[in-house]
Amino acid sequence: MFIGNPSRVTKAFVIGDPIKHSRSPLIHGHWLAQFGLDGTYEAINVTPEGLPEFFDRLRTSEFAGGNVTIPHKEAVFALCDSVDPLARAIGAVNTLVVENAKVHGTNTDYLGFLGNLDAAAPGWSDRIEQAIVLGAGGAARAILVALAARKIASVHILNRTVATAEKLAVEINGPFQSHPLGEFEQLAPDAGLLVNTTSIGMHGTAFEALNLSCLPKSALVTDIVYTPLVTPLLAEARTLGLATVDGLGMLLHQAVPGFEAWFGQRPVVDQGLRDQIA
Ligand code: ATR
Repeated sequence: MFIGNPSRVTKAFVIGDPIKHSRSPLIHGHWLAQFGLDGTYEAINVTPEGLPEFFDRLRTSEFAGGNVTIPHKEAVFALCDSVDPLARAIGAVNTLVVENAKVHGTNTDYLGFLGNLDAAAPGWSDRIEQAIVLGAGGAARAILVALAARKIASVHILNRTVATAEKLAVEINGPFQSHPLGEFEQLAPDAGLLVNTTSIGMHGTAFEALNLSCLPKSALVTDIVYTPLVTPLLAEARTLGLATVDGLGMLLHQAVPGFEAWFGQRPVVDQGLRDQIA
């Protein structure tokens, strides 16, 4: 769906508070330059109090749409004219498309996760029957929706607080079971995929209790954290000879559907973009 008006400069945005650290302008700026498009993508600081007014203006603005980041990903639900079912399941809207003075909200994080793995490990979802997901916070929801969409037969959610994992397993439709982190060793031998959705690893911290050597040699290990690019979890997996996929690709791939909707071209996540954003 191409929303931009070809006779005018197509405009898109990212809103958040604060917004100056967002990498989205760099990503979309890279693609706008690559396609030679006469479009703009700007970072706009919108406070929670200013959000309703921003939406009121958005409907009749020149914006084709934009991205939504912290702290607005939940608040925008009530302000959108429509929100798709996957964004509802994930519990967050990260992408807006404006069409006929109506704002549609969606979530592209699950597509980012899938696009990243598809690019790095083609055919992974045909091979893998069981997955382990570490963490049961907001970020885990998009991963669970993605794994259910790819029909992974069995997904084990391991969390420090098991009750949170249990709640998630019930709320989201899929083949989910919840466990304490301590059951990792027992479950790992049958897991073809390990995904870390927690912020552990962001500051060089590692999961102490996880013995990755219990995973099969064919297992794929991925982390949604991308600062640092090689988290302690990925470093340990590599030492054991396991295949790893870093989280930067998820950030880049989640931006693809928005760019395509606003600017009418499907961009590619290439090494040049990775180098620029990393
Ligand atoms: P987000 O919305 O970004 O996913 P979150 O809702 O705070 O962030 O979720 C963080 C996740 O990381 C949770 O699963 C949390 O476990 P709890 O539900 O037990 O809090 C997990 N987490 C954070 N720090 C952790 C730690 N030191 N050890 C184990 N799990 C941790």
